[in-house]
Amino acid sequence: MEAASLRFAHKSEVLSPAEKTDAYEDAIRNLDLILAGESHTILKMATINCVLREALPYYFWVGFYLVHDGELVVGPYQGTLGCLHISYDRGVCGAAARTGSVQVVSDVEQFPGHITCDSNSRSEICVPVYDGAGCLIAVFDVDSTELGSFDAIDEVCLSRIMRQHFSQ
Ligand code: SME
Repeated sequence: MEAASLRFAHKSEVLSPAEKTDAYEDAIRNLDLILAGESHTILKMATINCVLREALPYYFWVGFYLVHDGELVVGPYQGTLGCLHISYDRGVCGAAARTGSVQVVSDVEQFPGHITCDSNSRSEICVPVYDGAGCLIAVFDVDSTELGSFDAIDEVCLSRIMRQHFSQ
């Protein structure tokens, strides 16, 4: 299927594994400096979105879905209009919240129940976010306009960022 037209965002640029690793290392260093001593959850989420989207050119949509009243509601994000509510039994974000494990989806059309907020999204990763007491507080979601953009490098680096800034 051809991706829909991109009116508000750029097509994702594909990085080699080495470029990806370098970009994450830079972003992790910057985030550690920028967020040192910060405790406000929304401040941290907004800043993580911005720093990662600047560093990683395949990020088309990046944001947090917050746990609220037994469902996920859209929180800080960058990109085109996101879905407002996601129940735990739907979509990739719901699967991450339900199972507590990272979901890497190389082709969203092959994921049963995937929720299409923007038809330009072709692949995605969803990472559960826990607070210091081990409670799920959010799901971090990144989408790309290309198939297969996310792999073990994204999973390891994003899990590390979420642990560092929300679980400690
Ligand atoms: N694709 C997600 C929905 C959120 S958007 O991608 C912003 C899902 O199926 O959970």
